Amino acid sequence: MAGPGFRGHPTGPLLLLLPLLLPPQALSEGPLVFVAVVFRHGDRAPLASYPTDPHKEVASTLWPRGLGQLTGEGVRQQLELGRFLRSRYEAFLSPEYQREEVYIRSTDFDRTLESAQANLAGLFPEAAPGRSEATWKPIPVHTVPVAEDKLLRFPMRSCPRYHELLREATEATEYQTALEGWTDFLTRLENFTGLSLVGEPLRRAWKVLDTLICQQAHGLPLPSWASPDVLQTLARISALDIGAHVGPPRAAEKAQLTGGVLLDAILANFSRVQRLGLPLKMVMYSAHDSTLLALQGALGLYDGHTPPYAACLGFEFRKRLGDPEDDAGNATVSLFYRNDSAGLPLTLSLPGCPAPCPLGRFRQLTAPARPPAKGIPCHGSQKPATPAATTVPLLAGAVAVLAALSVGLGLLAWRPGCLRAWGGPV
Ligand SMILES: *[C@@H]1O[C@H](CO)[C@@H](O)[C@H](O)[C@H]1NC(C)=O
Ligand SMILES: *[C@@H]1O[C@H](CO)[C@@H](O)[C@H](O)[C@H]1NC(C)=O
Ligand SMILES: *[C@@H]1O[C@H](CO)[C@@H](O)[C@H](O)[C@H]1NC(C)=O
Ligand SMILES: *[C@@H]1O[C@H](CO)[C@@H](O)[C@H](O)[C@H]1NC(C)=O
Repeated sequence: MAGPGFRGHPTGPLLLLLPLLLPPQALSEGPLVFVAVVFRHGDRAPLASYPTDPHKEVASTLWPRGLGQLTGEGVRQQLELGRFLRSRYEAFLSPEYQREEVYIRSTDFDRTLESAQANLAGLFPEAAPGRSEATWKPIPVHTVPVAEDKLLRFPMRSCPRYHELLREATEATEYQTALEGWTDFLTRLENFTGLSLVGEPLRRAWKVLDTLICQQAHGLPLPSWASPDVLQTLARISALDIGAHVGPPRAAEKAQLTGGVLLDAILANFSRVQRLGLPLKMVMYSAHDSTLLALQGALGLYDGHTPPYAACLGFEFRKRLGDPEDDAGNATVSLFYRNDSAGLPLTLSLPGCPAPCPLGRFRQLTAPARPPAKGIPCHGSQKPATPAATTVPLLAGAVAVLAALSVGLGLLAWRPGCLRAWGGPV
């Protein structure tokens, strides 16, 4: 379960070390002090069509607001997410929006800006639909131009270092072998779609999948070649592409240029609030599946699943009770992931730190995936960041100790998928 090398680990000596190794977590959860949520926009029209698309000619009637735009269903999903956040934070947030308390930032796309607004209409009663005109109040959503958005927009097309790392991933044997296995499939798909796909970026195949999924979700018949098997294979191809962008090799270095930037901003937001004693309680980021995937990559939590519409990853910072003197910090971080509105959100743990994770440890474990203080190392000429080389083995070591403990004592729930995301083939 825990991977090769951990089996047969002697548990005797570890038992003696147990009081030193296990953080005093039983006492550690106090009141909620800060929240950051990152969510994907709601249901949208497909981004593109393909030459043989049977629905191509009627696209403007099918998607009256245009390709890539939020649909009525997307608005409803965000309202629902906003209502979920209201119920989760009923006791934490003020009943009405206070500008010092909540800050909302979106990418500069119609669908994410509209999603943020719909979400806020679910979260705050004075912005709700059907509110009487006299009491209705809109809530501000901040953004920056797409070209300047270093926080929420990935992949970074203009970052040479990222392209080097991506090339390393796509030239790796495992990637090439997987790709060769799909050449026949892609050749057949070229004939079905009229697109050139073999030897092209895999994102092009993903766009076909996206178009088919959107059409299917809106009750349109798919062409006969688009069988469930074909859709599933396209999903696997797209997971290979995503894995190359956010997973190994050198996942932490890639994260420093993408999801680690956002992760760092969230931690910095919390530090600043604490340091300055700001009344800010929540930041909300309205973004894309690529934003969530990059963040999952930075946390070592990408597991091959693509975030559905309105998927929401939350960071909850709580006051840590007891033992505030040690270097673990006086707060804990817990992660939740809501990718299904029908159930409770999933509780995620950072690999190597079962929730609630002491902030100091959270910082330490994520340091290799966050950009160095001197800035985002985008240029290949710059020395590749050293933390990736030195700290990841340390992380792996910490993980190994905890994993051995969990195998020996059954105390910690370990998720093998997390380890795989950092260390081996996806
Ligand atoms: C697919 O192949 C068939 C038979 O070879 C051919 O008639 C058809 O034009 C091809 N379609 C496309 C879009 O290339
Ligand atoms: C939170 O981080 C974002 C991105 O760096 C920044 O724009 C915003 O001002 C920060 N807010 C606080 C209160 O630190
Ligand atoms: C943590 O300690 C800092 C500095 O001592 C303080 O400003 C902050 O309010 C504390 N945070 C919590 C959650 O207790
Ligand atoms: C939600 O995420 C979990 C973990 O990645 C995954 O196992 C599950 O299938 C996802 N569910 C949906 C509905 O996407």
